[in-house]
Amino acid sequence: MCNVADRVLVFDTTLRDGEQSPGVRLSLDEKLEIGRQLVTLGVDIIEAGFPISSPGDFQSVHMLSTELKGVTICGLTRAREKDIEVAAEALKPAERKRIHTGLGVSDNHLEHKLRMTREQALEVGVAAVKIARKYTDDVEYFMEDSGRADLDYVYKVVEEVIKAGATTINVPDTTGYTYPNEYHHLIKTIIENVPNSDKAVFSCHCHNDLGMATANTLAGVAAGARQVEVTMNGIGERAGNTALEEVVMALYIRSDKFNCVTNVDTTQLLPTSRLVSRLTGMVVQRNKAVVGANAYAHSSGIHQDGVLKERSTYEIIDPKLVGAEKSEIILTARSGRHGLKHRLAEIGFNFTDERFEELYENFLKMADTRKEVTEDDLRELVA
Ligand code: KIV
Ligand code: ZN
Repeated sequence: MCNVADRVLVFDTTLRDGEQSPGVRLSLDEKLEIGRQLVTLGVDIIEAGFPISSPGDFQSVHMLSTELKGVTICGLTRAREKDIEVAAEALKPAERKRIHTGLGVSDNHLEHKLRMTREQALEVGVAAVKIARKYTDDVEYFMEDSGRADLDYVYKVVEEVIKAGATTINVPDTTGYTYPNEYHHLIKTIIENVPNSDKAVFSCHCHNDLGMATANTLAGVAAGARQVEVTMNGIGERAGNTALEEVVMALYIRSDKFNCVTNVDTTQLLPTSRLVSRLTGMVVQRNKAVVGANAYAHSSGIHQDGVLKERSTYEIIDPKLVGAEKSEIILTARSGRHGLKHRLAEIGFNFTDERFEELYENFLKMADTRKEVTEDDLRELVA
């Protein structure tokens, strides 16, 4: 539980981890358009790319650093001197810059990917932080695959990289392996067991392989993390990252539980979601939480009757809060009289009870033949 309205920083990685989604490639102009919208949305940090990975990524980090004001621009690096130098060069024009460096901490990654001992990896990580600090005092250290790592080793790494100058510690559940109790425990025990943990902000970076990214991120915030690493619409490697819109709205709607605030203007969530979907070509599923087309649509008669009497019976989010116009009453064979009357009234038709009953019977016959009864269908019915 947060203290009195603690601030949670929103670190958006749509343009880095999100752009790693298979099949997504954004042009420079598209990245700039999304970057501008992220500033309007009110995120605190934009991870603009991985500068050494390609000339295009270097250019995009450089361009966003030049163009975007009032936000921290971050560049990702491996724990290598050359990566850090290149990232620092790309970030040079930024008003506020952050270097995000690090390497794996799980035995799996150390043995199979990095081919280093724990001691060697720790040395490399500490050296990388020291190099990054030559370019900026805002250095974030990621411990890749923390979710499957040995806790005592994680505590040691955190302590040493903070001593070396890291100001944010990223605790990624890179493989989406943990479940909320475990991720909560991970963040909580790091904060409790690392003697200098008060010198850094802890950050949740969760992948969605088992569909638990948002739950894990919120569990991390409940345990004391004060930064969330998220992407719009939850896009990202494999099953994606934690969805920005879900975490922001959960913190808002369940402020009774978290008592935490973000700087996000929630009314910009839907416009941002639509822009990212359009430019990345990643379609948002209709039933997606917060921004899906069905998120504020009611189709069964019982739900329509409830929501038309009092919205809160079936809606915990006012659609206006996320930038949607209003809730929708979708007419299907499951709809009732209240829903039909409402939709007819919306297009200007009011009938006597007798005439309405007749229409309702015909409506049900029509609804049984199609997925949805549209406004045109209603006009035809009335005619
Ligand atoms: O998932 C992960 O571990 C990452 C790091 C590079 C931060 O994306
Ligand atoms: Zn990631």
